[in-house]
Amino acid sequence: MKIAMIGTGYVGLVSGVCFSDFGHEVVCVDNNPAKVEMLERGELPIYEPGLDTLMAKNVEAGRLTFTGDLAAAIDGADAVFIAVGTPTRRGDGHADLTYVMAAAEQIAKAAKHHVVIVTKSTVPVGTNRQVRETVSAANPDLDFDVASNPEFLREGAAIDDFMKPDRVVVGVETDRAAKVMEEIYRPLYLRDFPIVTTDLESAEMIKYAANAFLATKITFINEIASLCEKVGADVKEVSKGMGLDGRIGKTFLHAGPGYGGSCFPKDTKALARIGQDHASPMQIVESVIKVNEEVKRRMVDKLLDLCGGSFNGKTVAVLGVTFKPNTDDMRDAPSLTIVPALVGGGAKVRVTDPQGKREGEALLPGVEWHDDPYAATSEADLLVLLTEWNEFRALDLSRIAGSMRGKRMADLRNVYTLEDAKAAGFTEYDSIGRVGTGG
Ligand SMILES: NC(=O)c1ccc[n+]([C@@H]2O[C@H](COP(=O)([O-])OP(=O)(O)OC[C@H]3O[C@@H](n4cnc5c(N)ncnc54)[C@H](O)[C@@H]3O)[C@@H](O)[C@H]2O)c1
Repeated sequence: MKIAMIGTGYVGLVSGVCFSDFGHEVVCVDNNPAKVEMLERGELPIYEPGLDTLMAKNVEAGRLTFTGDLAAAIDGADAVFIAVGTPTRRGDGHADLTYVMAAAEQIAKAAKHHVVIVTKSTVPVGTNRQVRETVSAANPDLDFDVASNPEFLREGAAIDDFMKPDRVVVGVETDRAAKVMEEIYRPLYLRDFPIVTTDLESAEMIKYAANAFLATKITFINEIASLCEKVGADVKEVSKGMGLDGRIGKTFLHAGPGYGGSCFPKDTKALARIGQDHASPMQIVESVIKVNEEVKRRMVDKLLDLCGGSFNGKTVAVLGVTFKPNTDDMRDAPSLTIVPALVGGGAKVRVTDPQGKREGEALLPGVEWHDDPYAATSEADLLVLLTEWNEFRALDLSRIAGSMRGKRMADLRNVYTLEDAKAAGFTEYDSIGRVGTGG
């Protein structure tokens, strides 16, 4: 199969590279010339473990190329995937479909033969029909099909998720589109990964329902964590005891500083808007959005307590600013709420993150960047463990406490315990959902 992939972000680039590894001929297109130039030089515009090696292998094999020329990319393509961003639209919470519709129009104007136009971006119910109308209006003579193929990969584990998915969801209207999609995903069919073939609307809805459910699960445990702190329970034990129930499952039950990232915040907001538009309010999801904001605010209160009620004049070391480990993605990261609150309150903030600096420098003005956690915490009054990178899981806490001015730690990912902290010489330690602060 010959595939054109429009958009070389976290989803488009990973999907394009993996499809080429399946043996398809893939051309990845981006309208950002700087990204295309980097990719042509063999460099990655994003950080994703393992992607550089897989990309180099498929470029070398002649199956994977990059271009800024969309028309050239779709010439001869059996399928063209739209994998552009669908951020929250300013003002109303809807998914902004500007990039999707612009791509659809560009495809319509450039296509000269039958093609399946596949939406991989996360889009509200009805968008694929809108894509069909847009393409028909722009090129009434074009023979084409549309398909919905939402993506479920997680940044940081994206290649594994793409190559060994829990399921692939394909929404189609015609047998012809179904056959093309089956051919594209043949390597996964052959290895018995479940492929859910359905109508366009159900495919679109599956993606939002899945993300909203996961955001709900995280938010549920975050709210339980808050209550645990009040009643003297340990949320880690509670999660374990709950998660062992097969009906519940143990994933997405880790209490933390609130969900963030490129998907959950925008997808929950978009689903809430879809519900409102159809007079079928998503009351649970609306609560989740509200509670998640409260969770992030509660983190700031925790830090304020550890700083004796004021950040002014304090030196705070923040370990990890990306929204989760193993990515450089900063979109809607809890750090974007917490760090500005520290800076705004008059703290001197020192930051360290294995991959976050490239994006983070512009997003977190007024902070000092350090290359490692030991340099960042030296002479600090408070250590905040915000993203649980592996690098931060086995710190020499005694060395850190010994070099700090105030020996206080806010462990917002429950990596350590009060006992660990006390043994290392910390006088105050707070975490999530556990009775913590103590000297
Ligand atoms: N990031 C994730 O973990 C993830 C997971 C599942 C689904 N999704 C969904 O996938 C979609 C893409 O997300 P992302 O994180 O990869 O976005 P991204 O912002 O990282 O990348 C989008 C890319 O598309 C390019 N682009 C935009 N319009 C274009 C056009 N007309 N022609 C060519 N290139 C164009 C941009 O330059 C950019 O490089 C979103 O809808 C998102 O919700 C993301």
